[in-house]
Amino acid sequence: MTRSEEINRRRTFAIISHPDAGKTTITEKILYTTNIIREAGVVKGKSGTKAVTSDWMQMERDRGVSITSSVMSFDYKGLRVNLLDTPGHKDFGEDTYRTLIAADSAAMLLDAAKGVEERTKKLFEVCRLRKTPIFTFANKMDREGKEPLELIDDVESTLKLECYPVTWPIGMGDRFRGLYHRLNRKLYLYTRGEEDPEIIDVKDHNDPIIVEKVGDEAYLKFSEDLDLLEGALGTFDRERFLAGEISPMTFGSAKNTWGVDLFLDLFTEQAPGPGPRQARDGIVQAEDKSFSGFVFKIQANMDRRHRDRVAFCRIVSGEFERGMKVQHQRLGRELRLSYANSFMARDRETVDNAYAGDILGLVDTGNFQIGDTITDGKKIVFDEMPRFSPECFGRLSIKDPLKRKQMQKAVQEVAEEGAVQIFFDPIIGEQDPVLGVVGELQFDVLLYRLNDEYKLDVKLERLPLSVARWPVKKDGSPVGRSIQGGTKLFRDVADRPVVLLQKEWDLNWLIKENPDLEFHITGK
Ligand code: G4P
Repeated sequence: MTRSEEINRRRTFAIISHPDAGKTTITEKILYTTNIIREAGVVKGKSGTKAVTSDWMQMERDRGVSITSSVMSFDYKGLRVNLLDTPGHKDFGEDTYRTLIAADSAAMLLDAAKGVEERTKKLFEVCRLRKTPIFTFANKMDREGKEPLELIDDVESTLKLECYPVTWPIGMGDRFRGLYHRLNRKLYLYTRGEEDPEIIDVKDHNDPIIVEKVGDEAYLKFSEDLDLLEGALGTFDRERFLAGEISPMTFGSAKNTWGVDLFLDLFTEQAPGPGPRQARDGIVQAEDKSFSGFVFKIQANMDRRHRDRVAFCRIVSGEFERGMKVQHQRLGRELRLSYANSFMARDRETVDNAYAGDILGLVDTGNFQIGDTITDGKKIVFDEMPRFSPECFGRLSIKDPLKRKQMQKAVQEVAEEGAVQIFFDPIIGEQDPVLGVVGELQFDVLLYRLNDEYKLDVKLERLPLSVARWPVKKDGSPVGRSIQGGTKLFRDVADRPVVLLQKEWDLNWLIKENPDLEFHITGK
C-alpha cells in the first residue's frame, strides 16, 4: 500500500458519553463485531481487565504504567480504526478533553432514557470548538426511555446540534421490535437473547410487511414518527456533518449487540480520515510528505522505580518509521524515536511504520510536554494545546517551610506534564498559587507524586471554587488589570488573565457586567 493509501484508510475517533451510558459495553461490542475479540464480556474495564488487554498487562506491571486502553487500533472493512479512550468515571480529567483534540471524529453515546447529560455536554463543547464531526448513538433501547423524537429534541435544544436519524426504533423496552434503516430501506427485527436480527428489504416505511411483522400498535407509533420525519428531513448533507453541524444518529442496545453493526457501517461509510491541522505558519495536510505530530497526553509513571513516562503523539502528517530522527521543536534539538508503540487491539507492538491519524506511544524520559510538536526537520509548530477549565481548586502547604522552593519546583514540573494548572494571585504573586484540576483524581495523583517522587510532606487545602474562565475582549484588545463585577483577575502560567469563581451563577453575573468581554472555557 502506498503512503497515501495508508493515510486515507485511517479513522481516528473517540466516544463521548456520561458515565454509565454504556461506553465500556459498546467498546467491547465494537471489538466483538469487528472480530477483534471472540467473546463478549471480556473487556469490562471497571473491575478486571482481561483478554484484549492481557498482553499489555505484563508491560503495565513491569513499568507500572497504565496505558491499557488509551488507544485501541483495529482493521475493519479495509480501514485502520483508532479508537481513543476518553477516561470517564473517577479518572475523568483534563486528559479526557485533550484526547478529543487528537480525534478526527467522535461518537456521542446517549442513554436513551437520560438524554444529554452533564459530562456529555462538556465533552461536546470541546468537539464544538474544533467543529469535530459527531455521530450519535442512542443506547439502551431495550429499556423504557424518552421517545426518540423527544431525544432528538433534547440534543437539538441542549447542544444546538441537528440530528439526522439514519435508523429509527420500532418500540422500546419490552415493546422493542427492531430498527428501520431509512437509507438502505431495510428492517432489522431483533429477538431478546439473540444478536442476529432477521433482515427484510422494504419499499419504504409504509411497506405492509412492516405492520405484519411488528403488529398494529408498534407500527402505528412508528409510522406516525416516520411520516413526520420523512416530511421534515432532506437528504443527508455530508458537508454539514463534516463541519460538525449535523449528526447522523442511530439507535440500539449495546448490551444486546443490537444496532452496533449498523452504527459501525455508518461510521465506516461516513467518518472522515485524518484532516488538516492548523499550525502557527499555516495548515498542515495529512498527506504532506513531511512527518509531523503533537503530544496530547503524557502518562506519568506511578511507580517510582521506573521514572519513564509515555507521551502519546498524534501523527498529523506523513509517515513515522522506527528509529527515525525527529526534530523536537520546543527544545530545538534532534531526538531518535527508537522505541514507540502502536496499539493494535490484540497486542501492543513496537511499531515499524505509522501514518497520519495514528497514535504513537513514545517512551519518554522527560523530553516531552503536552502540546509539543515533533517533525522530521521541517519547522512546524502546531497551535498550542488549549487548557480546559478546571473544576476543582486548592492550595498546597508544606510542613517544612525550608522545602517551600522545592515544592514550587515540583509542582511546576508536574504542571508542565499537564497534570495540574497553576494560577497566580495578583496580590500574593508566585508564592502561593491556586492549583486547578479538571477531575478529582488529578489531585490524588499530584499529592501521591509530591510525596512519593519528590519526598515532600504536603497538604492540600481545597478552595470553594468550581469555575475558571479566560476573559477576552470582543474587540481583540488586551484585558486590563481588572474587570467589572468585583472579581480579581488571576494569571495563568502563560500570563493570561483568568477568573476563578465559586459557581456558574457568578459567571452569568460577570457576563452581564462585562458586555465587552467573552469568557472562554479554554485558555489558548
Ligand atoms: P460506561 O462505561 O459508560 O460507564 O458504562 P458501562 O458500559 O459500564 O455500562 C453501564 C451499565 O449500563 C452497565 O450495567 C451495563 O451493562 C449497562 N448497559 C450498557 N448498555 C446497555 C444497554 O444497551 N441496555 C441496558 N439495559 N443496559 C446497558 P451494570 O449494571 O453497571 O453492569 P452489568 O452488571 O450489567 O455488567
